[in-house]
Amino acid sequence: MPWHRKHLLTIEELSRAEIEQLLATAGAFRRILDRKVKKVPALRGKTIVNLFLEPSTRTRISFEMAAKLLSADTISFDAAASSTTKGETLRDTAQNIQALNADMIVLRHSASGSPLYLSRVLGIPVINAGDGAHEHPTQALLDVFTMREKLGDLKGRKIVILGDILFSRVARSNIHALTKLGANVTIVGPSTLVPRWFEALGVKVSHNLRSALEDADVVMLLRIQHERQASGHFPSVGEYTGMFGLNKTRAEWIKPDAIIMHPGPINRGVEIDSDLADSPRSVILQQVTNGIAVRMAALYLCAGGQPEHVLAPVE
Ligand code: CP
Repeated sequence: MPWHRKHLLTIEELSRAEIEQLLATAGAFRRILDRKVKKVPALRGKTIVNLFLEPSTRTRISFEMAAKLLSADTISFDAAASSTTKGETLRDTAQNIQALNADMIVLRHSASGSPLYLSRVLGIPVINAGDGAHEHPTQALLDVFTMREKLGDLKGRKIVILGDILFSRVARSNIHALTKLGANVTIVGPSTLVPRWFEALGVKVSHNLRSALEDADVVMLLRIQHERQASGHFPSVGEYTGMFGLNKTRAEWIKPDAIIMHPGPINRGVEIDSDLADSPRSVILQQVTNGIAVRMAALYLCAGGQPEHVLAPVE
């Protein structure tokens, strides 16, 4: 099946087949990452602008690495030194970047829906690198890619997402991806951060950590998104950790071969005990590496590449 999308805006809008295409393409690029020479000429001559108007370490560097490995030229936008500080709008900024001959924009923004908005006013592909509390599609794809690498087929697997679900774009994108792939998703945390209405997305809502963790194949931890919370959703960080932080005792409630994931940045000693973050059960850094392959796939397909051209075995 050919790839038709010009933009990658949400996981919600993707079909299961499209998710599979992205994952299969990422798989081919992941194998390339293990070669001595990792660079491929797929996007030679293209210029990709990373328009990040919110802080980022992993996603920005990962997109930049992905673009370079595809032989594209990349420019990373420095928000603090840009004319956005003089009042220039997102639309004007992006239209000027397009007028400067960019071939694609990767956008991170605090406003939900901003990538969709740009996709309607620009003629070039827009990739969502995280928009407010809405979606973070490439994060979910790299998470699912890593789960499959460790567990194989996700159908019927119990995936627990623990933490600040309400303000998490990572949770929303993962919920859409995992339910489309047939996994059983449980979200757990304080009732103020894990409201019942998430059940409408096809997940189980729990406020009881022990019962949620029992039989889990994957525990995905999320940090508290202080930057998006207008008021206190729990009494204190210490009390949150006391009730919902993953520590050694609680990790014994999950299966011995279950994996621990986190999209980063991690807050050691808050949502996860430092020893657990560094333990063999943690795949946190493997998630980061797989992110390069997933972002190579997203850039390649949205630039007009076709999955079958990279799915052939590479030498
Ligand atoms: N996971 C993630 O989006 O990390 P960054 O905010 O560092 O990009």
